Amino acid sequence: MSERWTPDSWRKKPIQQVPEYPDLRALDDVEKQLATFPPLVFAGEARSLKKQLARVADGQAFLLQGGDCAESFAEHGANNIRDFFRMFLQMSVVLTYAAALPVVKVGRIAGQFAKPRSSPVEKRDGIELPSYRGDIINDAAFTPEARMPDPRRQVEAYRQSAATLNLLRAFAQGGYANLASVRQWMLGFVKDSPQSRRYVELSDRIGEALEFMQACGLDLESHPELRTTDFYTSHEALLLGFEQAFTRVDSTTGDWYATSGHMLWIGDRTRQLDHAHIEYARGIKNPLGLKCGPSSKPDDLLRLIDILNPDNEPGRLTLIVRMGADKIGDSLPTLIRAVKREGRRVIWSSDPMHGNTITSASGYKTRPFDLIIKEVRSFFEVHQAEGTYAGGVHLEMTGQNVTECTGGVRQITDEDLNDRYHTACDPRLNAEQAIDLAFLLAGLLKKERSNRVQPMPAAAGL
Ligand code: PEP
Ligand code: CO
Repeated sequence: MSERWTPDSWRKKPIQQVPEYPDLRALDDVEKQLATFPPLVFAGEARSLKKQLARVADGQAFLLQGGDCAESFAEHGANNIRDFFRMFLQMSVVLTYAAALPVVKVGRIAGQFAKPRSSPVEKRDGIELPSYRGDIINDAAFTPEARMPDPRRQVEAYRQSAATLNLLRAFAQGGYANLASVRQWMLGFVKDSPQSRRYVELSDRIGEALEFMQACGLDLESHPELRTTDFYTSHEALLLGFEQAFTRVDSTTGDWYATSGHMLWIGDRTRQLDHAHIEYARGIKNPLGLKCGPSSKPDDLLRLIDILNPDNEPGRLTLIVRMGADKIGDSLPTLIRAVKREGRRVIWSSDPMHGNTITSASGYKTRPFDLIIKEVRSFFEVHQAEGTYAGGVHLEMTGQNVTECTGGVRQITDEDLNDRYHTACDPRLNAEQAIDLAFLLAGLLKKERSNRVQPMPAAAGL
């Protein structure tokens, strides 16, 4: 793979998961138009994220990545974005406080539209139609018209991403993320949940700490890190024509960056070594994620790491492990050992969602909360046994009060799924389940931290 890379060199490679656009001229026109649009993010921001991720790779910070499985045109609204952001802040404050580690915040948002599918077609009552591939490609309704890929949707996805990002930037930098407001981030329906007491206690403690610092003479207003936060965006780099249109040269370094989002990841279905998605990803300088499912083999993984992070740069590559609760204990240790043996600097992050999807008796795609927890716990246990750092999580979650994953504090059952099952693709944790998970993670991180604290030397004089 030492051939010259260009933003379109992926076009000469075999490729998976390509929608069948009926009019290639129209597709080409849209891609040309997108290439003239302003970037959504800047190279300098992607570099800052990479720096923060380098700290995660060194065990000095924790990565929280999450959001919708698929953003949808129908669910786009200020309230949704605000609720998602509030939940994200709540989770990160729980983690920061418990682990005494900075949390790097990366949303699956403002560009997470294209979906890989296990089958190109879907059959219902004897009728076969192309599968739904995300709102950037086609519509979920089960009609031939809706399922026809339409390139104009890419322009709509760009518009929605720009509007979402605009609001996120305002929330992150405009005072909404002020630590003094920790209590107000609590979402209405979470307020009367059994989780709320723990959260209120924690926000009281943070409030007291802030008051204490103020009493000591610290001017909190002059510390932007208490009033603002860095929030980054990410999505799966699946629809490569769209990605190519937003691949731009950074004028300060001369390097190529994807400007559709800060961090891009390669999905479990499109990580073939000599295929198009890996070819595209290797040439951009953004931080990258690579999903590692049960079929990941140590040798292939090492070769992928060589291609995606040839300079062994910390923060460049996050391995997002999504094995399933029952498989992770067997498959993860061999991957970790290979990576460790070769001295590769990566972030290990756990996606406990995608290996734990089942179909409920009522026919819904769901994920039992217990299995999600089980995979996260095993992820931490394996890292502890191997002496490596469990550096992050990758979650599908929403700030809305949905019923898509079973279990959790409210014991959502198969029968409850029908109440508020709104996802455009995979089942997400609702805010209550997500915050519950954050408390569990906080406990695991605390334990990880205490295991890492070096024992005091038994030297004389101490
Ligand atoms: C996803 O993250 O929504 C997804 C499809 O994941 P994976 O590639 O791990 O299956
Ligand atoms: Co998903």
